Amino acid sequence: MQYTPDQEKAIKDRPAGNVLVSASAGSGKTRVLVDRIIDMVKNQGINIDQLLVVTFTNAAAKEMRERLRSSLQSEFAKATSADSRKHLLTQIRKVAVADITTMDAYCQKLVARYYYILGIDPNFRVLSDNTEIQLLKEQVWDNVREDLYGEDKDHSFADLTENFSNDRSDDGLTDVVFQMDAFANVNEDPDKWLNDAASFYKIGQEG
Ligand SMILES: Nc1ncnc2c1ncn2[C@@H]1O[C@H](COP(=O)(O)OP(=O)(O)OP(=O)(O)O)[C@@H](O)[C@H]1O
Ligand SMILES: [Mg+2]
Repeated sequence: MQYTPDQEKAIKDRPAGNVLVSASAGSGKTRVLVDRIIDMVKNQGINIDQLLVVTFTNAAAKEMRERLRSSLQSEFAKATSADSRKHLLTQIRKVAVADITTMDAYCQKLVARYYYILGIDPNFRVLSDNTEIQLLKEQVWDNVREDLYGEDKDHSFADLTENFSNDRSDDGLTDVVFQMDAFANVNEDPDKWLNDAASFYKIGQEG
């Protein structure tokens, strides 16, 4: 196959930084990424399981793994020296377990391997069902609200609830809390964001 000059550059160049491959649909982006990896494995003695290849979807990861496997197989068929045949055969075996995966799946693998450092139960489970997430959130909020009402000696929590209620419902505060939760969780440090958010409402404490 004859690469275009841009493809050639993206495959063979080894700049110290990053390479951005941007081209229209079906124009050979995945080909470039696959051949870049094959070039590293073939010409630089790198093992395929030393690389982390991240895709957006599971389907793309599967495609990438299959394309790497078939490229490795055709390189193996072309290889003449005993050393490179041995190296390529090892890669063909390793491609099945190489980290060619989505970011989510890779993170899950890391957590499963290092749960003891993170202080997490090894039987952890990923909460991915949106209905379950919502139910759990509501349960937690119900408990928190009950506690806050129980301790509400100065009536401040009742006032807060009242402040966000209207004549039809008193879900106003619930909506605000859930919105704050959503906002906080897209930040790197949600607790810090929540603490800082309160500072906007401190009046007359400048400097
Ligand atoms: N320089 C080239 N000469 C001939 N065929 C090529 C060349 N580059 C890529 N191809 C072939 O074109 C087809 C599409 O390439 P590829 O899947 O890499 O495109 P893509 O940009 O990743 O597409 P998509 O946007 O759908 O992800 C593949 O069969 C690939 O082997
Ligand atoms: Mg592609």
